[in-house]
Amino acid sequence: AAFSTSSAAAAIKNVTVVGGGLMGAGIVQVAAQSGYKVTMVDVSPDSLDKGRKIISSSLARVAKKKHADDQAAQKAFVDKVFDNIATSTDAAAAAASADLVIEAIVENLATKQKLFAALDTAAPAHTIFASNTSSLPIGDIASATKRGDRFGGLHFFNPVPQMKLVEIIRTKDTSDSTFAALTDFTKALSKSPVSCKDTPGFIVNRLLVPYMLEAVRLVERGEATKEDVDLAMKLGAGYPMGPFELMDYVGLDTVKFITDGWYEGGVGLKGEKLVEPSETINELVKNKALGRKSGKGFYDYSK
Ligand code: 3HC
Repeated sequence: AAFSTSSAAAAIKNVTVVGGGLMGAGIVQVAAQSGYKVTMVDVSPDSLDKGRKIISSSLARVAKKKHADDQAAQKAFVDKVFDNIATSTDAAAAAASADLVIEAIVENLATKQKLFAALDTAAPAHTIFASNTSSLPIGDIASATKRGDRFGGLHFFNPVPQMKLVEIIRTKDTSDSTFAALTDFTKALSKSPVSCKDTPGFIVNRLLVPYMLEAVRLVERGEATKEDVDLAMKLGAGYPMGPFELMDYVGLDTVKFITDGWYEGGVGLKGEKLVEPSETINELVKNKALGRKSGKGFYDYSK
């Protein structure tokens, strides 16, 4: 069926998510849980398999909570979600039947532009494109397509199934109906949307990254230990994790990537002390201490 752009909000049924990593798989899961037909796309059967495993283990947690001791009901729940999930290694083919395409691939502008340029030819006119980027300007990614009006940012948080927020980013070209469709979609996932202009870090990372960097500098200055900083922010400010635990959770490579990008050229942040790269983080990343995923970061997770 052909949908007009203005009815796009009501028309989102099929969703394609490109990228089956932690964020992509999480988005696939919550969309499938909410009844959308979702196609998860990645470059190889192997990466798709990894994506499915991320979804399985997260769904197992959700199922356990929903149906405490009823294993049959847990299985039925998980099966029902997986019934809504297809997988593909062909992004263009998947986009051809999508009402919404969400991209969650590597944080590289040229790679994202190349993907979206190809999807722009493959997808129907009504299809809305969204990027889950946390550090690149949405407008720069959208410029690779001819559908700037049907393009926006849809920024989820890790762990996607648990975190209730989605930042919806409007560029100067994003149309009202696209914004409305992205807002409705977010609400249909039982998440709360906030909107932000196309600025470095949007709301959450714009505040969180300087906070994390200042925590590192505080410890570098010898004012407190990282353990005490973490405890202080948990018990004194109500954060679920302290800044060092959070950096390990997010990944120090990711923190470094975002920081470097802003310091070198982020609009309004270039050369700012606030986002000056941290030698401590650089050193950890150089030694492959990336946080939880590598078994070691600020803390040791190997045991
Ligand atoms: N899938 C499904 N559910 C999950 C989950 C997952 N992957 N991970 C955690 N949960 C659920 C648990 O089942 C549990 O549910 P319940 O409270 O209903 O029983 C709940 O989350 C809490 O989990 P745990 O009890 O296992 O552990 P914690 O209480 O320590 O919570 C946490 C873990 C939810 C990760 C919490 O510590 C937290 O919120 N931390 C901060 C996370 C954060 O700030 N994320 C944003 C990072 S920035 C970002 O993502 C942006 C990017 O662009 C860089």
